[in-house]
Amino acid sequence: MQNTVVRFVKRPQGFVDESSFAIEPAPMPQPAEGQVVLRAFYHSLDPYMRPRMTETDSYIAPFELGQVMEGGGLAVVVESRHPDYKSGDVVRGMLQWAEYQVATPGPAMLRLERGHAPWTHYLGVLGPASLTAYVGLKLIGEPKSGETLFVSAAAGAVGSIAVQIGKLRGCRVVGSAGHDDKVAWLRDELKLDAAFNYRTVASVGAALSQHCPQGIDIDFENVGGATLQAVLDRIRPHGRIIMCGAISEYNEPGPGLERIFRIVSHKVRMQGFIVSEHFDLMPAFIADMEQWLREGRIKYRETVIEGIENMPRALIGLFRGENFGKLIARIGDEPV
Ligand SMILES: NC(=O)c1ccc[n+]([C@@H]2O[C@H](COP(=O)([O-])OP(=O)(O)OC[C@H]3O[C@@H](n4cnc5c(N)ncnc54)[C@H](OP(=O)(O)O)[C@@H]3O)[C@@H](O)[C@H]2O)c1
Repeated sequence: MQNTVVRFVKRPQGFVDESSFAIEPAPMPQPAEGQVVLRAFYHSLDPYMRPRMTETDSYIAPFELGQVMEGGGLAVVVESRHPDYKSGDVVRGMLQWAEYQVATPGPAMLRLERGHAPWTHYLGVLGPASLTAYVGLKLIGEPKSGETLFVSAAAGAVGSIAVQIGKLRGCRVVGSAGHDDKVAWLRDELKLDAAFNYRTVASVGAALSQHCPQGIDIDFENVGGATLQAVLDRIRPHGRIIMCGAISEYNEPGPGLERIFRIVSHKVRMQGFIVSEHFDLMPAFIADMEQWLREGRIKYRETVIEGIENMPRALIGLFRGENFGKLIARIGDEPV
């Protein structure tokens, strides 16, 4: 057996490239008492990993130079020196970008049932990204029937769930994405009221004026920058701006907002949140989402790339829109 890890070796200046990562062989890990050896088989690739490459104060510590990259993933226990875990148990948790690793089970490690759902769902439609959409709308957006909801990066993991929950809540939903096939999926499959390609319209502002003629009641903000400015300029009185992310600013800083008095004049609530503070809502989310899936009311897409050595390239691709729906890396065989 051999082990491979991906280390973070260089802080990117501007757009991240593969020189920030080193793919290296590593010894097979040996567990101490109370630990397990995990074999990872799926890894989640997420936009927040880019801000973690910059030294700044945030809700999570920046990656240290030389450390093995980490993120959410699924793994199977292959050796256990922990009384509550046995070989063959499958878990979701914060994992190193490594084929094999030792871990000390704690509250952040969740044991998963076999046969309940396809494994990728635990990182995708039943995972933290979907929970993010659910939490943002529930706690901040508070959608009401007839309101206009705009979602940026609408064909991504979070956005594609946010638009559909918005439809289930009776909103008029408009989404933006950066590829025509994503826009077609949003319009034709997810039945959005309107969708546009932000790369090919004259301007995001003009597209929003066209598709949200009464203005925007709720913004599920994934992109930030010029998109957020265009929303702010069209927000309605008592509008809610759910600050979920600002991916356009992760590699390079954005321009900053203008005309922010509109937040005052239009009595807008603009609030950020981090999903990991709301894992208490996971059971309610799973119950709702499983019902919606059974009823065929939620659709989802996954982009699954192969191989631990391709994880850096795939992560970089997130910032070019190369994923469609949840981006996942398959780095080993699914457990039987
Ligand atoms: N607050 C939280 O707890 C939390 C949790 C999870 C995620 N998030 C945030 O939610 C957002 C979506 O995350 P996700 O995991 O669902 O990723 P995702 O949407 O599946 O993938 C990212 C997408 O963003 C779009 N994009 C990339 N660069 C862009 C740019 N410069 N301008 C406009 N669009 C750009 C691309 O789609 P196009 O082809 O459409 O360009 C890309 O596919 C991110 O901002 C992320 O940080 C927040």
